[in-house]
Amino acid sequence: MRDIETIGILGGGQLGRMLTLEAKRMGYRVVTLEPLPNSPCGQVADEQIVAAYDDLRAIGELGARCDVVTYEFENIPLASVRTLETDGRLVRPSGDVLRITQDRLLEKAFVRDAGCTIAPFAGVSDPSELEHAIATIGFPAVVKTARGGYDGKGQWVVRNASDARAAFAEAKGAILIFESFVPFDLEVSVICARGSDGTIVSFPVTENQHDHGVLATTIVPARVSDDIAARVKAQAATVGEKLGIIGAYCIEFFVMADQIFVNEIAPRVHNSGHYSLDATQISQYEAHVRAICDLPLVTPKLFDAAVMVNILGTNSGDRLDGVHELLADPDTKLHVYGKRHAALRRKMAHFTVLGDDVAAALAKAETARGLLSWRPSRSR
Ligand SMILES: Nc1ncnc2c1ncn2[C@@H]1O[C@H](COP(=O)(O)OP(=O)(O)O)[C@@H](O)[C@H]1O
Ligand SMILES: [Mg+2]
Repeated sequence: MRDIETIGILGGGQLGRMLTLEAKRMGYRVVTLEPLPNSPCGQVADEQIVAAYDDLRAIGELGARCDVVTYEFENIPLASVRTLETDGRLVRPSGDVLRITQDRLLEKAFVRDAGCTIAPFAGVSDPSELEHAIATIGFPAVVKTARGGYDGKGQWVVRNASDARAAFAEAKGAILIFESFVPFDLEVSVICARGSDGTIVSFPVTENQHDHGVLATTIVPARVSDDIAARVKAQAATVGEKLGIIGAYCIEFFVMADQIFVNEIAPRVHNSGHYSLDATQISQYEAHVRAICDLPLVTPKLFDAAVMVNILGTNSGDRLDGVHELLADPDTKLHVYGKRHAALRRKMAHFTVLGDDVAAALAKAETARGLLSWRPSRSR
């Protein structure tokens, strides 16, 4: 058992913010490192170190001030985590986990070797590999940058060879993954948390609807058979075990008839787990804190059906209208991230609606979504 008082978080976005709020409630100090001053996480943490993720001096300072360091997104430089580890700092999840999960090619190969089903894929780093992928994987396909992508960024759906060559040119030399397009019925994910003693707990399987590659809605529990939900949880546990991850993680799947395909692993708390702040007795954020601080992991219990709706910016103003009407519903909780500018498709806030069943929660969520809009701020 480690004696942990201060948690360091690499990354200062909304995931770090919600993680911090839960960690603070549990009595921890939190220091975040993030280049954007007054970040969503920095606003609620004890301290924010304002520095780039590859500033090794600042990274060293974070390590020196904290008993454990974690991250809220996987696109931080591996060298920064390796530096902390070399300095003898505790980083959870480890650099070995980050190395695999920040590279789609390593991640897909890992998941396949763990015995999970995935869409056929090939790595593409030059024109001859592209032609090989076109010939062997075929169309339709999705071309993604192997590293650095999120929220559908760095992705192209390609339907023929000329689309594929255009995507390759647009990627400007980035290493790519060329994967078969899965005509799925629905997408699901599961959040798990694994402790240093190997205990794994899983949250309910959720159903995720995306819009332009960005999560729009999460429905809990997912509308899949018990058999599919059990297979999703079993595969997620196997992957977590084989990775040796310590902390919360999320695995996304495509469901097509009775088949499941792993899409990707996030070695961190995840947007599809936001609902757990309001619908389960421990949230994914608390589960992560428990895992990285060697506290007991308990099985999450779902109180009610839940629907989580992401509120994205529209670039038409920074003030959210309709909150009064939204909050008139006793089963709706609003979470706002403290970002100043509601740029187009930027994740600004979310709300979760609880209901006796999924149909009831969904109906209310659809009405609630229509209440909200952005308008320009009052000038001060
Ligand atoms: N092979 C695929 N077949 C069908 N849809 C896909 C495929 N890969 C990605 N997508 C769609 O794009 C979304 C984002 O892709 P994903 O690989 O999860 O990247 P990100 O890191 O941006 O979340 C997925 O949730 C899914 O809706
Ligand atoms: Mg994804």
